[in-house]
Amino acid sequence: TIDLHKQARDILKMNDRGGYTIPTKGLYPYQWNWDSAFAALGFAQFNIDRAWQELDTLFTAQWDDGMVPHIVFHKSDPGYYPGPDVWGGIGPLPSSGITQPPIAATMARLIFEKDKTAGEAHIRALFPKMRAWHQWFMQWRLDQGAVCVTHPWEAGRDNTPEWDGPMERIDPIGVGEYERRDTKHVDGSMRPTKFDYDRYIWLVQMGKRLNWDQQQLLEENPFRVADPTMTFTLLRAQRDLLALGVELGLDVNGLDVEIATLEKGAASLWNNNIQSYDARDTKTGEWANCVSNASFLCWYAGIDSAGQSEQLQRVLDKVQFGVPSHDPESPKFDGRRYWRGPTWAVMNLLIGLGLEEMKHPLALRLRQATRALIEQNGFAEYFDPQDGTPAGGQAFTWTAAVWLSWAG
Ligand code: DGY
Repeated sequence: TIDLHKQARDILKMNDRGGYTIPTKGLYPYQWNWDSAFAALGFAQFNIDRAWQELDTLFTAQWDDGMVPHIVFHKSDPGYYPGPDVWGGIGPLPSSGITQPPIAATMARLIFEKDKTAGEAHIRALFPKMRAWHQWFMQWRLDQGAVCVTHPWEAGRDNTPEWDGPMERIDPIGVGEYERRDTKHVDGSMRPTKFDYDRYIWLVQMGKRLNWDQQQLLEENPFRVADPTMTFTLLRAQRDLLALGVELGLDVNGLDVEIATLEKGAASLWNNNIQSYDARDTKTGEWANCVSNASFLCWYAGIDSAGQSEQLQRVLDKVQFGVPSHDPESPKFDGRRYWRGPTWAVMNLLIGLGLEEMKHPLALRLRQATRALIEQNGFAEYFDPQDGTPAGGQAFTWTAAVWLSWAG
């Protein structure tokens, strides 16, 4: 496995564009928000300064209202659609207009723990920025204390069956002609369908038309789903920010109240019908009725759940390689199609960290399954959870980062 460590480091270096790292050449040629946070954790295993640079660069794209965009378009690349002019972001750098799961504060804390001397000045500079981003979520995105997504891309889990109901209610009227670029890089059977894509683009067009004004979007956007990914990652990130702030004597006023709100929000995502954490469509109050890999982020957020443990045992027994992105016993399960079944090393990492911290008996099994997955199938974007077939982009930054920081 020495060789795999070298391969993983080489992938990070190859995808390094100077100050930021692309997820993979071709398919994703810009800086993505949570990809970068994982990249930073990967770099921290062999180059701590480069790790901090990744996070520092990400926050140079932060908007005045606190939002940190999901894509930063540092240098234009015609191989990707939708690019900067389709989005019309209003931040200091060309960017998208939505955000992504807030894992940066958690990764920053893990990196700080590795070398406090190297990290302290970065934490001090990043702390108010991370605080502003988290407060933006608290101001604009809560529903019963749970955090909502306003675009399927925002949770990072683009085409999960959890969005099927809310997506069906959208009529993508006037979306017009556009040319997808993703299916030029990878096979269409591993990507979202045209039905989904029309709605993704329609939602982007609406945001641009409203100049990304959150108040107007709150009134007009039909897609608003309370989501376990966002809720659990923000709850965890807030706890990490509090710990960092206390340690360094920074202003943590109000964080405890926000954490209590998010704890209530997390509890509001428990769906008794399926005995699992679930997504809730805030427009209709309907549950998605889905056990997804995001359901298993509760431990990462510091919440133990006997019911969710039973679900974990069940899904792990059904597949070979870690947590599948959708319930393998559901008729909607599709083992190669992006977030409708494949296993993702990054989600396994987040779930696994939580399980390990809470000394859960399944923690080791998940880490070993993720190690075997990468050993046997390389550094793909995601994998078939049953036979490990690599899918999506190759030489993928976040899979390499998971290897270096956890699985390898
Ligand atoms: C894409 O383009 O597929 C991305 O997931 C959007 O972030």
